[in-house]
Formats: sequence, structure tokens, C-alpha cells
Amino acid sequence: MINGSKKYIITTWGCQMNEHDSEKMSGILETLGYISTDIKEEADLIIFNTCLVRENAELKVYGNLGELKALKRHNPDLIIAICGCMMQKKEIRDIIKEKYKFVDIIFGTHNIHKLPELIANHNQHTRMIIDVWEDAGNIVEGMPAKRKYGFKAFVNIMYGCNNFCSYCIVPYTRGREKSREPEDILSEIRELANEGCKEITLLGQNVNSYGKTLTSKMSFAQLLYLINEIEGIERIRFMTSHPKDLSDELIYTIRDCHKVCEHIHLPFQAGSNRILKHMNRKYTKEQYLDLVKKIKSEIPNISLTTDIIVGFPGETEEDFMDTIDVVKKSEFDSAFTFIYSIREGTPAANMENQIPEDIKHRRLKTLLDTLNPISHDKNLQYLNTIQEVLVEETSKTDSTVLSGRTRTSKLVHFKGDKDLIGKIVKVKIDNTKTWTLEGMLIDG
Ligand code: SAH
Ligand code: SF4
Ligand code: F3S
Repeated sequence: MINGSKKYIITTWGCQMNEHDSEKMSGILETLGYISTDIKEEADLIIFNTCLVRENAELKVYGNLGELKALKRHNPDLIIAICGCMMQKKEIRDIIKEKYKFVDIIFGTHNIHKLPELIANHNQHTRMIIDVWEDAGNIVEGMPAKRKYGFKAFVNIMYGCNNFCSYCIVPYTRGREKSREPEDILSEIRELANEGCKEITLLGQNVNSYGKTLTSKMSFAQLLYLINEIEGIERIRFMTSHPKDLSDELIYTIRDCHKVCEHIHLPFQAGSNRILKHMNRKYTKEQYLDLVKKIKSEIPNISLTTDIIVGFPGETEEDFMDTIDVVKKSEFDSAFTFIYSIREGTPAANMENQIPEDIKHRRLKTLLDTLNPISHDKNLQYLNTIQEVLVEETSKTDSTVLSGRTRTSKLVHFKGDKDLIGKIVKVKIDNTKTWTLEGMLIDG
């Protein structure tokens, strides 16, 4: 009954948590008989899954919502729903209620499982339905998910965050930290493996503190050992790691579990101890650099990536030079860089000495000028090496070119047949660029 099926589009902003929530919503909608479409004019349901970390993402949501108004005029039966982190803030819900009255359903990060009920309720009466929970309650298990790829998948191991970094809105939008039971995680991964999945990425805002909320305690390292045993799974990735909780046990586990990939995303945010303290990060520059040294000596071919914020309130030129110093000493493979932006409701929003925009932009440029040559040199070390690559897709511009990722998460382009998608192949690297590698297939 494809022709009679209702069609949906989900637009997603933000991190992998949101991406995976959207996969779950797709799974739920498809069990209700919906099918996905890319054409807005055809859609019966449009969902915006929003993010609050990046100011740009927030502004884009308002811009895109404006566009939907015309669509709704042409198709009054269209259901428009907004969810995700932005909706956890009452002030933002009030703006939607006031200025975007054509929105049908608002829900939050803790109750995506209620989507079928919200749609059914909407069909019964026409006013805006708002259902946002302040906290998660019990973890809801068994939600279907329609994943983008069959061969790689995100798996949540925990929800929420307890760290309250002073700039960050996530603890307010995702609630308190809560770990999933290991058995639930393992059975989800076993099922994925049975369906042919080869690579999993374990998701949590701070995976290193996994297990603290369980009745029978378990560390993240112990969980990795259990996942490492699952037949069919060939690669295990995880994000994000908080430096304050990255234990020696975990470093040895990454080194010793052969399926755990040689890549750690280890945000340091700022180099100055004074700024780190104001950020409430709970480590010093020296501790971070020691940790990097230890990781690199235990796992020599490790790829290290990070998040960095420039222009946190009160950041002086000297503080910023500490950030540059950490970048030079740590030699990151790549980094996500952020210009500090005020998130209302967080402690840093009320701090004095907010940094002018032009200084923030100048610092960002200096930071990128420091990071990029390092990324370039790191990639150069791959020249003439043979890499194991999980093939992900064909190039958009040339269907004879494939792309995939190394264990260290480097993107590789090479010529090959699209039948290789989903397989792990060997590629000899014959050219390197700052962000990508190029090579030749040596073994199908
Ligand atoms: N849980 C992860 C990251 C979550 S948010 C962690 O702790 O590493 C992703 C990144 O957004 C953060 O690492 C930080 O670098 C950036 N970020 C968060 N709030 C920000 C803000 N107010 N301004 C600029 N960057 C911010
Ligand atoms: Fe935000 Fe800090 Fe939690 Fe990461 S650890 S989500 S930066 S509060
Ligand atoms: Fe954004 Fe929410 Fe993730 S605020 S970064 S989508 S947890």
C-alpha cells in the first residue's frame, strides 16, 4: 500500500544524539506505515529535531519554520512537529506558541516514544499540542530505529549529563546522566550484528562515566570488553570522552580490545587553567597534556580529535595562547572549533567580560591556522601505508569513486565497485590532503 502511505521528512540539527533520535523517530513512523520522502510538497508530516548548542542551528530553525508556513497554506492537512533540545526551553516554546501558531506538535528530548500518541491526539483536535518532559523518567527500551546505513549504527549507552560545564546547555536539555543496563545494550548490538552491522558507535555525553547510575556497577572499559566479544561486530567506536574521567583502565582496554578503533575524541575546550576552572571542566592543562602523552605512548597509532572553544568570558590573549600551546603539544588529527556563544540559563551567560565578536573571530582564525597544518602533517604520515577501510558510499560526483573510513576515522577516497559498500577492504594510500586521504584498492 505504498501509494496510500503517508509521507514524512525529519530535518535534524545537532550532535549524534539527535541524529540517532531521528533514526528512532523514523523507525517509529515506519511501523505506523509512514514512508520517508525528500520532497517537502509531498510530505504529510514534517519534523524538525533541533539543537541548542550552536547559535546558527537555532537561527536556522526559525528561518526554516517560516518557510513551512506557505507549505501549510497549500496543504492544511500537513502536520508540523518540532522536537529536540530547543524545545526543552520554555522561553523557546513560548516564542513558537506566539510567532509560529501553525506548528501542530511540540515535544521534547525525553518523550520521542510518545510520537504515535501525539500524532493521534493531533488528528482528534486541531490546536497546538505541547508535551515536554523536564526529565527522562525511566529509560524507554525497545524503540525501533531506521538507521541510515545497515553496516554501521549508533547505540546509546547513556543519556543526559551531570557535568554542568558552565557554558553548556546540554545538562538542561537532556537531563541527568543515566546509563542503560548492559544487557539492553548488548542485546541491541547482538541484534544489529545478526542483521549484518559491522561497526557500532557508542553514544553518551560522557561515556567514560558509564555505569555509575546502575545498581550493579560496571565501568565503560568492562562494557567495551563485553561488546568486543560479540561475533560479527568488527569495529567499536565511542563518543564523547571527558578528560576528567578517562581512566588508565580505559586506555589499556582501547589498546587491548582489537575491535575498539584507534580513535579518541577528547574535548579540551581551553588551555588556560583559569578558564578551565571557570568552565567547570575539573582538569588542568597539565593533566590534559599528561593524559595525551599517556594515550599516545600506550596506543602509538591513535588518532586524537577534540573540541575547542575560543572567546569564553574573560579569556585574555595569554589564556588563548595556552589553548594554542595545547594544540601544538597534542598534535590533534582534527578538531571541532567553536566561538563561545551565550546560552541563556547557563552560568557563563551571566559572567562579566564577555569577549567582543571581532576578537573571538581573530582568535578562531589563529586557532585554525595552527590546527590545519598539524592535520595536514598527521595525514601525510599515512602516505604509502595500507589501511583497513569500511566502505560507506559512492562519491556524489563520480560513481566509480568510493569513500569510507579507516579505523582511525580518516575519510578515504578510492576507485572501486559500489558492491563493496558495507565491506571492509584494504587500501594503499597514495595521496594525502588536510581532511582526506586518497588511495588504491589492493584487496576486495
Ligand atoms: N558532551 C560533549 C559535547 C557536547 S556539546 C563533551 O563534553 O565533550 C559539543 C561541543 O559544543 C562542546 O564540546 C563545546 O566545545 C561546544 N559548546 C557547547 N556549548 C557551547 C557554547 N555555549 N559556546 C560555544 N561552544 C559550545
Ligand atoms: Fe556539556 Fe560538559 Fe556535559 Fe559535555 S560534559 S555535555 S560540554 S556539560
Ligand atoms: Fe545540540 Fe542537544 Fe546535541 S543541544 S549538540 S542536539 S545534545
